[in-house]
Formats: sequence, C-alpha cells, structure tokens
Amino acid sequence: MKGFCDMKEITQIKGDFFGKDIITLDQFSSSDIQFLFHHVGQYQEIADTNTLSKTLAGYIITLLFYEPSSRTFGSFCSAAQRLGAGIIPVQNPQAVSSVSKGESLEDTIRTFASYSDAIVIRSKEAGTAQKAADATYIPVLNAGDGGASNPTQGLLDLYTIYQSVKRLDNLTVVATGDILHSRTIHSLIQGLSLFAKNTIYLLSPKELRLSKEDYKKFSGNGIVIKEIFDADQIPTHAHVWYWNRIQKERFATQKEAEKYTNRFVLTKELLHKYGNKNLMIMDPLPRVGEIDEAVDQDPRAYYFKQMRNGLYVRMTLFSLILKRL
Ligand code: NCD
Repeated sequence: MKGFCDMKEITQIKGDFFGKDIITLDQFSSSDIQFLFHHVGQYQEIADTNTLSKTLAGYIITLLFYEPSSRTFGSFCSAAQRLGAGIIPVQNPQAVSSVSKGESLEDTIRTFASYSDAIVIRSKEAGTAQKAADATYIPVLNAGDGGASNPTQGLLDLYTIYQSVKRLDNLTVVATGDILHSRTIHSLIQGLSLFAKNTIYLLSPKELRLSKEDYKKFSGNGIVIKEIFDADQIPTHAHVWYWNRIQKERFATQKEAEKYTNRFVLTKELLHKYGNKNLMIMDPLPRVGEIDEAVDQDPRAYYFKQMRNGLYVRMTLFSLILKRL
C-alpha cells in the first residue's frame, strides 16, 4: 500500500482504466471511449436482471457530495451496490462531517481514503476534483466540479447518442441553456471533440455564451462550434438537441438567474418547426421548465433513457477502475 500523502499524476487513460482518476474527458481518446462502451452491455444485463454481482464485493466506495444531487448520487450509489461494493454516502459534508469543524478538503479526502477504495466527489468549485485526486493514492471520480465539467455525465451522454445513432462522428448537436455555467455541456463538447467532424450549435442568451477561455480551449480541439442566440437559427438537420436548465446556483443572486430562466423552452411547436424525425432530445436533468412535459410522450424524447444509462456507464467505470480485466 502506498502512503496516504503520495501524489499521483492525472494520467491519460490509454486503454487502461485501472487505478486511474476520472477528472475530465481530456484524459480520454476515442478508443478509450469505445473500449468503455464495449463493456457497458454486460453491466446493463446485471442491472436489468437484478443479478447479484460480486464484481466489487469487498470494496467500499465513498460518495462525497458538497452539492445537491439526485441522479448522479443515486446512480453512483446504485452502481456500487449492484456490483457488490459497500458505500460511505456523505451528502452535504459541510453539515454532517468534520468539514463543519473546519477540516480541509485534503484532510477530508485522506480520511475517507483510509476507509474506502475510491472516492466520488461533487464540489462547488472548478478544480476541486483534481485537488482531491492530488491528496490521495486511491482513484477519485469527478461527479461535477462547479461549472467546469461533469465527465461521467459526458460519458453517459455520448453512450446514449452512440446507442441510437451508432456512431459518434459526423454529428450535428444543438446544446441549449446556460452554456457559460453548464458543466454537462462543457463535458459534452469535450467528448464530441474526440471524434471527427462534429459540429455543435450553442444556443443561449448572449450573456450566457461560453467564456472566451472555454471557447478558445474547446474550439482548438477540432469540433466546430457555432454560437446562436435565437431559436430561429436552430438547424433542421441536427441529430441531437441537448437542453439544460439555467444553473441558478452559479449566479450572484436569484433575481439575476431569473432573467434568463426558460428563454428557450422545448415545446411540441418548436419540435414541429425545427426537429427532424430522427432527432434525439436529451437533457441531463433536473428539468425545471426547459422542456415542456407534453414532449415526454414523443418517441424522440431520450432523457429518461439517458438517466438510466447513467447507472450502466457508472457500473462499467467502477469495474474498469477498481478491477483489472
Ligand atoms: C447536472 C449537473 O449537476 O451537473 N445534472 C446531473 O448531474 N445529471 C446538470 C444540472 O444540474 O443541470
């Protein structure tokens, strides 16, 4: 066993997930993603047939969530337990752990690393997952760090597209909402950038467009980024519409966030006007008005399926990271 304070490099996956942190999709190549997706089916089978899997029996996984979560927390908990692992679920460590006494992130991580084999962390600030990973030798999985990224959501989003379209290149995707703060849209852009000839239209109020820094970083990776500010500019040939809520927790005041809430609501009418018959409608959820509930019945609505896929993809990730295949 290595020392508790040993540092480790955040490394590229390069075909081997074992022992690695998952901090950003920049660690992945297209073949790493294909390798991961190749294994998802077997974990889907375990979950869908309620098979008692012993894959991770004897392992314990800590879930340290500094921000609220339903899907990410629930699916990571479920993924661990469906594989036979135990969990240490810590939601709101600010209230229920020694964080409330002023303990540092690093010491908190060292503590849970003493009792578990991997840590899944959701945090309020960009870069926290990386800091956590630097504080321990056990694998750390980023479940969302502020507005920066949410790589496992990015993976399950790509998986959902792949399942239906059967490829991840030559795609046109429209992402809508709070592009500036949406960590899931940031990860989606990074993920799509790993494959050839993808174009993403980013539809948002001007004030919530990508930061200059992110625009430069993301567009340097080969993906074509087209910023649009009006629903009339939605291309009718898109493969995916990816809607996400205004991230109100990232604004200085509630009032400021409300200025932008539901500027672009996905309604049956919008779908009729600009959607094609093969379109996939996605949303990482939670939905807070950005997609009209009347759309749920449309066969092109994939967001609930997408949510379930989170379980399968996270089971696969845990397995590949904790066990050498
Ligand atoms: C997202 C998140 O928090 O990153 N939700 C999720 O993980 N499924 C998106 C959001 O909260 O809008």
